[in-house]
Amino acid sequence: MNILITGGTGLVGKHLTKLLLSKGYKVSFLSRKKEQIPNVKVYQWNIEKGQIEADALTNVDYIVHLAGAGIADKRWTDKRKQEIIDSRIKPIQLLNKHLQTHKIKLKAFVSASAIGFYGGDTGETRLDENSNAGNDFLATCTKIWETETKNFTQAERTVSLRTGIVLSEAGGALPKLAQPIKLGVGSPLGSGKQWMSWIHIDDMCQLYLQAIEDKKMHGPYNAVAPEPIRNEEMTKTVAEVLKRPLWLPNIPSFAIKLLFGELAITVLGGNYVKNKRVSEEVSFSYEFPRLKEALENLYA
Ligand SMILES: NC(=O)c1ccc[n+]([C@@H]2O[C@H](COP(=O)([O-])OP(=O)(O)OC[C@H]3O[C@@H](n4cnc5c(N)ncnc54)[C@H](OP(=O)(O)O)[C@@H]3O)[C@@H](O)[C@H]2O)c1
Repeated sequence: MNILITGGTGLVGKHLTKLLLSKGYKVSFLSRKKEQIPNVKVYQWNIEKGQIEADALTNVDYIVHLAGAGIADKRWTDKRKQEIIDSRIKPIQLLNKHLQTHKIKLKAFVSASAIGFYGGDTGETRLDENSNAGNDFLATCTKIWETETKNFTQAERTVSLRTGIVLSEAGGALPKLAQPIKLGVGSPLGSGKQWMSWIHIDDMCQLYLQAIEDKKMHGPYNAVAPEPIRNEEMTKTVAEVLKRPLWLPNIPSFAIKLLFGELAITVLGGNYVKNKRVSEEVSFSYEFPRLKEALENLYA
């Protein structure tokens, strides 16, 4: 079976590729740049110009769509917000159009999504896949992303994985959170009470594999571990696993807002997201359901 991954060069894509190759899948990437990657054929695309390298879609059975401009990489200006949306939506439209032209129907189109669907800060509310979407920027972006995925006609089924905070030592939120702790100057952010719905990168990639292989999976699933944790607990657990002290008071919210502007919601806000559909409808067992074991594995 052939799996084409968009944005396969990123954090999740690299890890997922190793897993898929180990399971005997053939993997190719659609990337903005031509790169040499062992055991992976890299095709180039230019999303703005609507161009996809010839043969990229030939014999493809599944597409995993991970491409998108980094949510927390830059301050959210109006231009950056549009880039964040376009870089997720335009590839879906482009792929669907090319598959239509070549009369190719995929077995499944599996797309990343995000728990930002519910809004950047939903306080103490317990959220599952039946909860309403929020109405801030993250929620708006994610809603459009999922709608485009649902409207993808050239696949027998579509899946959106509403991804929580992916824990990996190789990138994403954890190294940013752990760096000050390693330097002995770590502390919880803002009130420290905000919920963090996280998932170990191994479980995240196993969920992508499940979404590819399990024909019953369709629609949105919260891709999070069973137990969300408050920011202060996350910070303390990282410090404990790294055997570093925590002695500073919390970093005040106003300082974070001053530094990051609207983007501050990604660290000061949070969501308590439940893995309802994964736990009730999918035969999936987490390798790392608890935070301490997840962190011990990552820092082993
Ligand atoms: N990691 C998390 O904690 C997390 C949480 C929630 C949701 N997600 C979502 O899951 C997906 C994968 O996450 P990730 O952490 O692996 O992301 P990542 O490391 O940022 O990688 C995303 C990939 O997208 C491509 N890309 C970057 N900017 C782009 C642009 N302007 N236009 C088109 N493509 C662009 C790049 O691939 P090329 O350079 O090869 O084109 C990049 O390697 C993303 O959509 C992300 O929003 C991740």
